[in-house]
Amino acid sequence: MTDTTPWVPVALSTSIEPATSAGTRIDGVEYVVWRDDEGKPHVWEDRCPHRGMRLSFGFVRGDQIACLYHGWRYDSAGQCRHIPAHPDLDVPKTIKVPTFAVAEAGGLIWMAPSESADQLSLPALPNDLLSVRSLYVDASLEFCRDQLATNCPPHMAEIEISVLSPFCLQLDAGDKVLVIALQPVATDRTALHVLASGQVSTEARVELAIWTAGLRFMLEHSFAKAA
Ligand code: FES
Repeated sequence: MTDTTPWVPVALSTSIEPATSAGTRIDGVEYVVWRDDEGKPHVWEDRCPHRGMRLSFGFVRGDQIACLYHGWRYDSAGQCRHIPAHPDLDVPKTIKVPTFAVAEAGGLIWMAPSESADQLSLPALPNDLLSVRSLYVDASLEFCRDQLATNCPPHMAEIEISVLSPFCLQLDAGDKVLVIALQPVATDRTALHVLASGQVSTEARVELAIWTAGLRFMLEHSFAKAA
């Protein structure tokens, strides 16, 4: 990513509970997405500065996360605050995990390069979106985005498709709205985070979840054929 990369979706809001963490990837780089006890989201490099253990395997304690391996504990700014083997040590300021700007909007957690986050705007999304599911597809983000524009979900025969950002599509069919946020996990792997407007019935959301399973098959099949 560069400093001008727009906000990238990294998870459905509902998939990260308070005081939990999960690992994810963008363009092959590993990140930890975690929430503190109060529910505030954080996105960091998923690597402990001590010996490289993934912090996504760690434990959230209040507004800090502790590494699973030797228990080094980091505050919400990524600064190491406690080393169990040296409890009286004034931990050097240089022991710090790289952190990234994070935002939560439209039922999604987003991250951006910290230096430029203030100048970047998040896609304007409806405020009544509900999670449908996230699915992981073995195809590139660009391929998924192009194909999605030609495959209508159920109950949305006449749709208008808007590209809200390089990482977000909105499908409108009257009072029904579907948002698909695309996360470039790796060159040929993409996460699709699917949300529907609160005006979509529970039954329709179940049908959408089933549609996404078929969608993954279609995307992977046509991507493999095109390769
Ligand atoms: S690897 Fe994280 S504390 Fe040692």
